[in-house]
Amino acid sequence: MRIACLGGGPAGLYFAIAMKRRQPNHEIVVVERNRPYDTFGWGVVLSDETLANLNLSDPESADAIRRAFVYWDDILVFYRGSVTRSSGHGFCGIGRKRLLNILQDRARSLGVTLQFETEFESAADYRAYDLVVAADGANSKIRSTLAHVFKPDIDVRACKYIWLGTRQRFQDAFTFIFEETEHGWIWAHAYQFEPDTATFIVECSEATWRRFGFDTMSQEETLASCERIFARNLGGHRLATNARHLSGSAWLNFRRVQCKTWSHENIVLMGDAAATAHFSVGSGTKLALESAIALAEYLHTEPTMAAAFGRYEEERRTEVLRLQSAARNSTEWFEHIERYLHLDPVQFNYSLLTRSQRISHENLRARDKTWLESAEMWFEEQATKERPRQSRPPMFTPFHLRDLRLKNRVVVSPMAQYRAVDGTPTDWHLVHYAERAKGGAGLVMTEMTCVSPEGRISPGCAGLYAPEHEAAWKRIADFVHAETDAKIGMQLGHSGPKGSTQLGWEAADAPLAQDNWQVIGPSPVRWSEGSQVPREMTRADMDMVRDEFVRAASMAARAGFDLLELHCAHGYLLSAFISPLTNQRCDAYGGSLENRMRFPLEIYHAVRAVWAPTRPISVRISANDWVGAEGITPEDAVEIACLLRDAGVDIINVSAGQTSTRARPVYGRMFQTPFSDRIRNETGIATMAVGNIYEPDHVNSILMAGRADLCCLARPHLADPYWTLHAAAQLGYRGETWPKPYLQGRDQLHRLASRSDAPAMKV
Ligand SMILES: Cc1cc2nc3c(=O)[nH]c(=O)nc-3n(C[C@H](O)[C@H](O)[C@H](O)COP(=O)(O)OP(=O)(O)OC[C@H]3O[C@@H](n4cnc5c(N)ncnc54)[C@H](O)[C@@H]3O)c2cc1C
Ligand SMILES: Cc1cc2nc3c(=O)[nH]c(=O)nc-3n(C[C@H](O)[C@H](O)[C@H](O)COP(=O)(O)O)c2cc1C
Repeated sequence: MRIACLGGGPAGLYFAIAMKRRQPNHEIVVVERNRPYDTFGWGVVLSDETLANLNLSDPESADAIRRAFVYWDDILVFYRGSVTRSSGHGFCGIGRKRLLNILQDRARSLGVTLQFETEFESAADYRAYDLVVAADGANSKIRSTLAHVFKPDIDVRACKYIWLGTRQRFQDAFTFIFEETEHGWIWAHAYQFEPDTATFIVECSEATWRRFGFDTMSQEETLASCERIFARNLGGHRLATNARHLSGSAWLNFRRVQCKTWSHENIVLMGDAAATAHFSVGSGTKLALESAIALAEYLHTEPTMAAAFGRYEEERRTEVLRLQSAARNSTEWFEHIERYLHLDPVQFNYSLLTRSQRISHENLRARDKTWLESAEMWFEEQATKERPRQSRPPMFTPFHLRDLRLKNRVVVSPMAQYRAVDGTPTDWHLVHYAERAKGGAGLVMTEMTCVSPEGRISPGCAGLYAPEHEAAWKRIADFVHAETDAKIGMQLGHSGPKGSTQLGWEAADAPLAQDNWQVIGPSPVRWSEGSQVPREMTRADMDMVRDEFVRAASMAARAGFDLLELHCAHGYLLSAFISPLTNQRCDAYGGSLENRMRFPLEIYHAVRAVWAPTRPISVRISANDWVGAEGITPEDAVEIACLLRDAGVDIINVSAGQTSTRARPVYGRMFQTPFSDRIRNETGIATMAVGNIYEPDHVNSILMAGRADLCCLARPHLADPYWTLHAAAQLGYRGETWPKPYLQGRDQLHRLASRSDAPAMKV
């Protein structure tokens, strides 16, 4: 095959090597504008895993790369006068120039033609070749000239960064330096890549960058300013740039590249030309090298070039998306760093280390047990206000709200059971809630309990509008208090436009086959095509609903509930007032967010007046309508949280979605937690996180990083009422209380869990 690799970076060179290794007869030319010893940038980071892949593909170059590596194990964080060191992270760095020279030598020795100092313009000039590999980096010309085919999506990120180098030694640690200056925060990512040279990437927000005047500085002035800012860590060494070919000051914005397709006829995109990953997760070179290996393999195993391209794209795209998702979390963490700058150094460090969500709590324990335990001790001290003698996993620390003390941070999330009869909870409810209270969670929330018959979602929904409801709920609350040390919270709601529908496991959100009741809402906006159009509420309706909430709250207080939650999420009545998608009123209750919050806040104040001041109130919100700027955005959610906080709400239960059939949620592990993180750290109010949190490790990382105060788990508690006790056994924590009649079961579980082959003990 005659192959042209357009671009002599890691992707182009390594692809040439991988092809030649498989078939020495291939005729390959690598075309590169630079000279062999020119390069932009300084060092790159590779993992052991990538090195193992390189070793399988071409042991000779892998060996040379390994010999050139500088290894380091620690991460060092300089922040607010403190220095935090954690270990076990295992990185290796290599100079980009060194890496390219190794690959160039190897390619040449395999018979690849390297054509330097040659600028290419378009793939059309390489028609004579059987295969054209566009490996020309993030700003790929080949991709641009065929943009109508590849359809690139380029997201220019917010921070400004500059890639510098220094002779200062950061020998034993990947080093983050955060400096507060008169112009704002600015930080450096520094790592050794040769015995006497380190990469030193400086980054800051665009606002800080402008206040410094970096936008008008020459490269020399930029270097001098950065040397002054980071003087404490540079030990008198200079900073240097090797991007003198770039005009201006060489500051950049990271460009996240994705492409709709990666191939066209005989042209294929590779490396940064196809997709980029933010440098803060250090995986760009890894992606480039691994993609090169994959395509070379498929071109020799698939029957046709088209089939090889198909497989390459399918398999590499998944890997790329996974990394880009982690990289997005990491990029956003730095972009929103102001959110975290109030954190204690311990928590700041933890938040930094876990920012991509690729490293979990137990992962950190495996890397550096001593450091993690010291962080847990810190968390313990915050939770108990006492000097701890030993640490425990954060999920088992207590939490206080007003006079309520929860024994741990796990919450059974509200879950409709559809088993009530005319609103009255039945024995099903007693057994269901009792089991979950026995199962170890600190707080058990009831399902959405409706304040009136018309406020029910379905005929099976529980209510709190008649004396028999109060009695039935009291029986449940009494059991929980008498037999367990869990607390129980009542979620009150009104279905609004989503009322009069079938049971959860029948046609979801669809009207009843018969006996529908009229539904109400802020505006006559129906949930879906087949749904009823709600009657627009009058002021008299609003008074009536407010009084129903007050009646229900009084009943909940008498029934002995420890916490009250107002359901202002998921498209039900109060949520419908908040979202502009469902609230199109022209009066004082519609229009601005402040107006749309007026009725929910009215309900809150009315309910607060009858709820004991010693007991907390939570509000559950949908922090994202998932329809973009037309609906509630995470930014709006911060404003909503501020209004609720100022009204005296104790905690926000941060859910999302279920407010529009047009919603396009982005699911994943802990996918709603970023909204909780944002609200908690931007407004200072306590939060509960919810949504696909299903492992003890998730709960511990969320709490320890300060992304929430409590974690709600719904479906995991349907599958396992004893989720918390099982989690304790799995983590080797023995401090949770079991019901006395079950102690022998506990002992056996603990014995089994402590066996060396039990999965939990490996963590
Ligand atoms: C600040 C920063 C830090 C980074 N840190 C890391 C890290 O720690 N670890 C990591 O793995 N990755 C890191 N990367 C990413 C890494 O550099 C790239 O992901 C990787 O180099 C991609 O390889 P590539 O071959 O696809 O593209 P490139 O390395 O960009 O190579 C493309 C080549 O094509 C040539 N070229 C482009 N257009 C033309 C043309 N028209 N004519 C002739 N030649 C052309 C260029 O000169 C270049 O040599 C970092 C990137 C940045 C910006
Ligand atoms: C069967 C079921 C019923 C639910 N009912 C309610 C409810 O009554 N009130 C509420 O706020 N959320 C309700 N939810 C949403 C959950 O509380 C939770 O937010 C959601 O399931 C995401 O958490 P998970 O990933 O842990 O399941 C329900 C969820 C399920 C699975």
